[in-house]
Amino acid sequence: MLDTLDQQPPDALLALIKLYNDDPRVDKIDLGVGVYRTDDGGTPVFGAIKEAERKLVEEQDSKAYLGPEGDMGFVHALMPFIFGEDPTRGGRIEGMQTPGGTGAVRLAAALAHRAGAKRMIVGAPSWPNHAQIIKDLGIEIVSFTHATSDGLADLDTVKKAIEDSQPGDAILLHGCCHNPTGIDYTHEQWDEIAAALGNSELLPIIDLAYQGLGHGLEDDSYGLRAVLAKVPEALIAYSCDKNFGLYRDRVGALYVMAEANGQIDRILSNGHALARANWSMPPDHGAAAVRLVLRDEALTAMWHNELDGMRDRMRQVRDRLAEAGTVGSLDMTPLGTQNGLFSVLPLTKEQILKLREDHAVYMAGSGRINIAGLTMGNIEKFIDALADVTV
Ligand code: LMR
Repeated sequence: MLDTLDQQPPDALLALIKLYNDDPRVDKIDLGVGVYRTDDGGTPVFGAIKEAERKLVEEQDSKAYLGPEGDMGFVHALMPFIFGEDPTRGGRIEGMQTPGGTGAVRLAAALAHRAGAKRMIVGAPSWPNHAQIIKDLGIEIVSFTHATSDGLADLDTVKKAIEDSQPGDAILLHGCCHNPTGIDYTHEQWDEIAAALGNSELLPIIDLAYQGLGHGLEDDSYGLRAVLAKVPEALIAYSCDKNFGLYRDRVGALYVMAEANGQIDRILSNGHALARANWSMPPDHGAAAVRLVLRDEALTAMWHNELDGMRDRMRQVRDRLAEAGTVGSLDMTPLGTQNGLFSVLPLTKEQILKLREDHAVYMAGSGRINIAGLTMGNIEKFIDALADVTV
């Protein structure tokens, strides 16, 4: 039976990790998978997390199972940062832990599907795994163009997609630091999107995988909070991969906002059942460390500092790229106003290959670059390499 299975291509982004690792050139530059890097090119464990891990080793007295909902102390400790004042919206918001942001997106889409969603409206481009997850669940994708040709977020296309939606549709939006383009909606655009969603029957799913990496924790949740103020119900997929640097520990959460507080337990019981059927329980360690950080004022302050440092460094890189102006045939200035880890350069497949072969610069086939892969030590080489392949 298994012999009937077709060969699948490796995930292009994850395959790039191996290609990069196998390249012996010492001046190679990794702009592939989305991990933050310091100006030394490292991805160290956050100081606040290290401290919390030490505490965890001392204090944790059992590794016995928790349950499909995971560590609810972790789930609740995050809520004021995500939802602001009145984090439960009068008992209408509750959550559960998931294996990373991917687990949260998967669970959100599966929950929508279980509730009857047949189509999912998604901007194009989007994080490639969004489409894989949605298709795997048998949900049809309806796309709209995310950005205008001038490199701004396109309000008209998203509003049109919302207007044209049908009963039984859901919509998946990036809360901030759009992956892959780095092009976010402005506050005013979010207000209009929220109003349009409020007038529709769509179920919004907001993917908030990069809170704190754009303009700060508060600012980066503006869009989410604007939407929640206008719609009766929503799903929120959250990731601690980047803003706590917990990538391989797989730390995420799914939050549900129900129309009425009496509905939340019933809705989440479906999330628990889906989790049980998929991974049973999420891994504990990273979420427990986040809980310890957020329950300790000094560690929370340390985390804020570390997050601010990451954001400032990425801004410096973006400023330097924007300052380069026109490089070969590329206008680099829009990178200065984009947010988060990613931006997309309009390069051809041949140019991307030439960057890799001739200059040891690794980036996704879509032209997406991880801004944090650039340091003050390699950025000039990168700009020169771009100039070389785009003349
Ligand atoms: C990325 O887009 O590079 C990250 O979110 C990692 C991943 O899982 O794709």
